[in-house]
Amino acid sequence: MVMYMLIIENLKVKVEDKDILKRVNLKVGDGELHVIMGPNGSGKSTLALTIAGHPKYNIVEGRMIFEGEDITSLKPEERAKRGIFISFQHPVEIEGVKILLFLQRVLKNLKGIDEVKAYELIFGAIKELGIDESMLQRQLNVGFSGGERKKLEMLQAYLVKPKLLILDEPDSGVDVDSLKVIAGIINRLHKKGTSILLITHYGRILEYLKPQVVHVIKEGKLVASGGIELVNLIEERGFSALEEVVS
Ligand SMILES: Nc1ncnc2c1ncn2[C@@H]1O[C@H](COP(=O)(O)OP(=O)(O)O)[C@@H](O)[C@H]1O
Ligand SMILES: [Mg+2]
Repeated sequence: MVMYMLIIENLKVKVEDKDILKRVNLKVGDGELHVIMGPNGSGKSTLALTIAGHPKYNIVEGRMIFEGEDITSLKPEERAKRGIFISFQHPVEIEGVKILLFLQRVLKNLKGIDEVKAYELIFGAIKELGIDESMLQRQLNVGFSGGERKKLEMLQAYLVKPKLLILDEPDSGVDVDSLKVIAGIINRLHKKGTSILLITHYGRILEYLKPQVVHVIKEGKLVASGGIELVNLIEERGFSALEEVVS
């Protein structure tokens, strides 16, 4: 029997009175890597923000089960404490917050790790991952390039080692070198047993990853699920090719 890390059942989500997600069903097995692809505006970020528990995203029907527990009405921080980590498409800038201190605080809050131990973990991780040490002295995302922002998100995820990692376009606005670093971190986490739901608009990052399942979302509905061959189909013929596959 497959153990599911995340089950999404019949999820209907409204944002500001607009129906965005229309009965989405999804099951992510323990330790699996799933990819969700879809055109702009199809509801990918809405799905990520709903799983995070963003108050603006109104669940009108359906539920989300994480490790057998219904988390549909849990607060975002309660979800995080249970081991769900979400990296958003547009990470925020926070002036005056030094990254080293921020990461130490994250490790304290989520894992109860003290400052000294956190310091060791952070320096160990950036060496291992090939991230420039000087980043730690900068302010959170202030003046960061797209690639730097996404790398910092991945560093956070790597330090937290969540049970479930949701990545919303970790590859957007990222150059090839950064993309390789990001994909490398995803692979390391996957190997360590983290279940991953990776949202992407392009197939490029999938040259470096081996997902178990690829899903396609269009207009708020999952319209296809399959293997990596779906990515090739989309690359060649665009998202519109899927109408034929599904029907
Ligand atoms: N906070 C919001 N306020 C109003 N509309 C939103 C909001 N978030 C998403 N939407 C709408 O929901 C739809 C899906 O958006 P989104 O989930 O961001 O798509 P994707 O990430 O696939 O590009 C779009 O039509 C978008 O305009
Ligand atoms: Mg998006």
